[in-house]
Amino acid sequence: MDQEKEREQVIKHLKLGKEMIHLTAQEVKNAGLTLDDTLALTRKALLAHGNKESEMPPKSGVHPFQVNFFHAMPAYVPAENAVGVKWISSYPENPTQHNLPQITGLMVISDPYTGSPLAIMDANYITAMRTPAVTALAAASLHSDAETFGMFGCGVQGTEHCRFITKTLDKLKKIYIYDINRQAMDHLFETLQPELSVEIIRGKDPEFVAKNCQVLSSATVILKKPMAVVKDKWVSSGQTIIPCDLNTFWDPAIAHRADKYIVDSAADHRHLAEAGYFPDGLPEITCETGEVIAGNASGREKDDQLIVCSNIGMAVCDVVVGRKVLLLAIEKGLGRKIPL
Ligand SMILES: NC(=O)c1ccc[n+]([C@@H]2O[C@H](COP(=O)([O-])OP(=O)(O)OC[C@H]3O[C@@H](n4cnc5c(N)ncnc54)[C@H](O)[C@@H]3O)[C@@H](O)[C@H]2O)c1
Repeated sequence: MDQEKEREQVIKHLKLGKEMIHLTAQEVKNAGLTLDDTLALTRKALLAHGNKESEMPPKSGVHPFQVNFFHAMPAYVPAENAVGVKWISSYPENPTQHNLPQITGLMVISDPYTGSPLAIMDANYITAMRTPAVTALAAASLHSDAETFGMFGCGVQGTEHCRFITKTLDKLKKIYIYDINRQAMDHLFETLQPELSVEIIRGKDPEFVAKNCQVLSSATVILKKPMAVVKDKWVSSGQTIIPCDLNTFWDPAIAHRADKYIVDSAADHRHLAEAGYFPDGLPEITCETGEVIAGNASGREKDDQLIVCSNIGMAVCDVVVGRKVLLLAIEKGLGRKIPL
């Protein structure tokens, strides 16, 4: 279905400018977005970004009590008729202190032709799906023949990363996982091993995982001061490191000496560096992830290159995936109309 027909479908369902749809976290899930849908939509968003055919200002943030942050993330992707904003928070101490998720958010999807809000929806599931989709697409682009993948952090993101990576790395044989919390590591193993054909191995320590994997990712916590859990000496040439928790988990020397430091949004990384997130200095940026996916910049050129690809999350992915969730929800009659 083309974009115009999709818009008609939404407008037929809603009194434009008078009401919008509200979707709870469960309804967003029930909309039925598949891993393949998410990969295809995220790829479109990355292509739009890499071809400079989207609008996405750097995240604007506020920081209650030092360690937390809220980001406002607007984007417009014309080819997908997708415009909206995500309001997302990161509270690293939530799981241990309040039994609440670390990441919480809402998203508003609007009509690009009239500016009217179309939907407000929970953004946690969309974030949990589109983030590993970016890592998985970057991995396929930068290290397509990898047989081993290592995941640091076995929470919401870590679990979905292990699912998504099996969709894009065709030769994958083993996934190594590590979490400081043994229960989280066991939970990921017990959830995913029955469903995946690749072997999942629980790492005894971060060194074991770092040294055994060709492609690595981390989804732990985002802090201004790096924890530098993975030491520079454990990392060797030829590896591809794709963190989604900025620079927190890795010795900053790794990104500084990498042959390529690729980022999803150069503007966001510079902005975060100005806000104090790279106390050792922002490594020199080679190019953006979307540019590599779109073929506008080269990815891996030699087998022995060390590549770091930092993806901090882009609103272009959120609005493209969020708009699709809205369409699926309308098809299934999910959610409720609320007056504007
Ligand atoms: N780049 C993006 O687009 C994006 C999107 C969403 C979340 N994130 C980031 O991903 C990270 C994880 O998010 P989540 O929702 O999965 O959180 P979560 O709380 O569900 O999981 C985090 C896991 O990391 C583990 N962990 C923390 N410190 C660790 C350490 N030192 N060593 C090993 N494991 C450690 C925790 O025990 C936990 O199991 C956060 O930093 C979040 O900000 C990034």
